Amino acid sequence: MTDIKKDMRSQKWFGKTGKDGFIYRAWMKNQGYPADEFEGKPVIGICNTWSELTPCNGHLRQLAEHVKRGVWEAGGFPLEFPVMSLGETLMKPTTMLYRNLASMDAEESIRGNPMDGVVLLGGCDKTTPSILMGAASVDLPTIFLSGGPMLNGKHKGRDVGTTDLWKLSEANRKGDLSQKEFVEIEAAMCRSDGHCAVMGTASTMACMIEALGMSLPHNAAIPAADARRKVLAHLTGRRIVDMVKEDLKLSKVLTREAFENAIMVNAGIGGSTNFVVHLLAIAGRVGVPLTLEDFDEFSAKIPLLANLQPSGKYMMEDLYYAGGLPVILKGLRAHLNNTALTVNGKSIGENSEAAACYNEAVIGTVEKPVKHDSGIAVVKGNLCPNGAIIKPSAATPALMQHKGRAFVFEDIEDYKARVNLPDLDLDQNSVLVLKNAGPKGYPGMPEVGNIGLPKTMLDKGITDMVRISDGRMSGTAFGTVVLHISPEAAVGGTFGLVQTGDIIELDVPNRKLMLHVSEEELAERKKRWKAPDLGYARGYTKMYIEHVEQAHEGVDLDFLKGNSGSEVKRDSH
Ligand code: FES
Repeated sequence: MTDIKKDMRSQKWFGKTGKDGFIYRAWMKNQGYPADEFEGKPVIGICNTWSELTPCNGHLRQLAEHVKRGVWEAGGFPLEFPVMSLGETLMKPTTMLYRNLASMDAEESIRGNPMDGVVLLGGCDKTTPSILMGAASVDLPTIFLSGGPMLNGKHKGRDVGTTDLWKLSEANRKGDLSQKEFVEIEAAMCRSDGHCAVMGTASTMACMIEALGMSLPHNAAIPAADARRKVLAHLTGRRIVDMVKEDLKLSKVLTREAFENAIMVNAGIGGSTNFVVHLLAIAGRVGVPLTLEDFDEFSAKIPLLANLQPSGKYMMEDLYYAGGLPVILKGLRAHLNNTALTVNGKSIGENSEAAACYNEAVIGTVEKPVKHDSGIAVVKGNLCPNGAIIKPSAATPALMQHKGRAFVFEDIEDYKARVNLPDLDLDQNSVLVLKNAGPKGYPGMPEVGNIGLPKTMLDKGITDMVRISDGRMSGTAFGTVVLHISPEAAVGGTFGLVQTGDIIELDVPNRKLMLHVSEEELAERKKRWKAPDLGYARGYTKMYIEHVEQAHEGVDLDFLKGNSGSEVKRDSH
């Protein structure tokens, strides 16, 4: 243990004498802090993504108060600060465009201020990876507290969650569900604090945090409205003070073993495909080598244990009552790196030792899984030399090996303009292609990859077709959807050269995605290909387009990769 009073980072501000020390302390005192708060207590920054425009994080101000209780109790000095928040449901054109911007906000706010340790508070999809990426580039002792999922939606005696939205809107469109009832369901589904209650991206991210060892046990599943979430906040506040004393930096937890564990757990829970770009980006910040192939390799052995929507039946509240994520960690013991260190100072294996399953319908076992195939499959071929992904547990088994004629939508606007036309030249074996939805091409890689089927197909009762895109899809979505094609259409990859009528072959068991067009023909098309004019002449979006990396690299900005440490190089005071 270090001499914390002398060595503490915050003392470079609060421990100073003369004019500088006066300035650092005097203005803080307008908030009513007594002088001894500045005399060597560990200062804990509470990085809060609260916003009324991010409704999933709307309760994080209250949760921060419980973190503070724990920090005070353990002898620390808590200081809460806001960072950019990304509300999935409201923010246009897509929150993914701003994930890296929010990470920059978190990184610079942490480094530029007098703090010795950090509690990260996130919930809605991108708020979790963004602040973890930012904190990873600073590398102070850091612990994560998720906001927790909403309670299960309840409507007319039935559970209702985000996954139902796709079916409900179809029923409403067809006239099978009245507008009045459709609106009633809005309030019935979102009836408590918290993020989406199914295993969408937010819950996937909360599970990722626990599997990486970045939170206390049970962070993933305790509902936001359950008082035990407040207890967890309190304990998180206590723990970060000890982490500062132990100098337990984030990089000691985020090791290669931790990332492998996260991939295996994501397969066990049937987590969102968005997990891939976020985990790659986080690994890039801490300098842990991680590739798309790792997702395939480490998922391949893992069956689906969590029976949660969209891959299964239940929701996060049910997972908590069934024993929570520790039961899944225990179930995967034979596969996981059990000695990987977590923020409570114990290994991930120790943390799940006492876990017990209270509902086998919600959590299966390796011997009796919910499904045998899970995780992320990575396909490659001339259509995606750097890879693309598919989530087998959400796909139609009969379509996993499929050959068909491409039907191309040049972008999402083209799709919207034509999808309901009666005379589209396609059939149920066609492969729907959506271009220009990638990191640069949209820009921001929106969740549009699971494009709805053309009306002519729906009218025939077709429920799934192979769809291929350089975009992403919502964690709550399903279907035989190949996503994250790299390189994307807008940078001149083969994907940008596909034309309606070309033959495309998807072969998931053999991990292949091929475009059956001759090299000569592709070379001719390439000569005629022009990069799209995206029309962003200034501002963050211009910078994003110039610097964003491709999907197989995590969609971070190239200059944000790596870690600059916590040292502030210049001091103007
Ligand atoms: Fe925020 Fe789903 S919209 S978690």
